[in-house]
Amino acid sequence: MTSERLDTMNDSNGMRVLGIVGSPRRGGNTDILIDEVLAGAEEVGALVEKVFLNEVNMAFCQGCETCQQTGECVQQDDMQMIFHKMSQSHVLVIGSPVYYNGPTGQSKVFIDRWYGAKKGTFAGQSVILVVPFAAANASVASHTVGILNSAVNGSKLKLFETLIVPGVWDSGAVRKHVNILAKGRRAGREAIEKLG
Ligand SMILES: Cc1cc2nc3c(=O)[nH]c(=O)nc-3n(C[C@H](O)[C@H](O)[C@H](O)COP(=O)(O)O)c2cc1C
Repeated sequence: MTSERLDTMNDSNGMRVLGIVGSPRRGGNTDILIDEVLAGAEEVGALVEKVFLNEVNMAFCQGCETCQQTGECVQQDDMQMIFHKMSQSHVLVIGSPVYYNGPTGQSKVFIDRWYGAKKGTFAGQSVILVVPFAAANASVASHTVGILNSAVNGSKLKLFETLIVPGVWDSGAVRKHVNILAKGRRAGREAIEKLG
């Protein structure tokens, strides 16, 4: 799922879906589940792309508040590219595993940077959240989901579905959870169908 693929596919319905992986593990549970959601969206004609937050140049928000005066962040890094991709997308698939009961550092830094997003970045896109974690108890995800939800609501995005995935520790363990994989694929498909 690369930009190249986005550029070369011509049988699309014009819908674009951006997956944003907040785990540092390529091929990990977040990545696998986001891939399922993207595959579902692709099945019904969407163009899909994925960004790995761990692999981009993304600085911490400095709290300088300049963006509140100028409408843009003073820090020139990969967030401008990500904001552009977000603005072009109809559906955002945002995934973070639970780390110490919260989102990963990568995911939190990403959300903090939304404060300085240019006007037009957020245009009511639909959002699918993906939150895997090791504990068996689903309530362990509550802080992570709460933080992601408040960012979604604060930017007037539309929450389409939240995939909460307890009981996965090892990288790739989610492959054994065929029901959740199917749920992810269906969410991707239905998010596009609903917009179509
Ligand atoms: C630093 C760190 C902190 C973690 N904290 C928690 C936690 O508080 N609760 C939990 O259930 N799992 C915790 N986990 C386990 C991960 O959430 C779990 O392995 C998840 O499936 C990782 O997703 P990934 O494969 O996409 O990286 C932690 C893992 C790491 C590396």
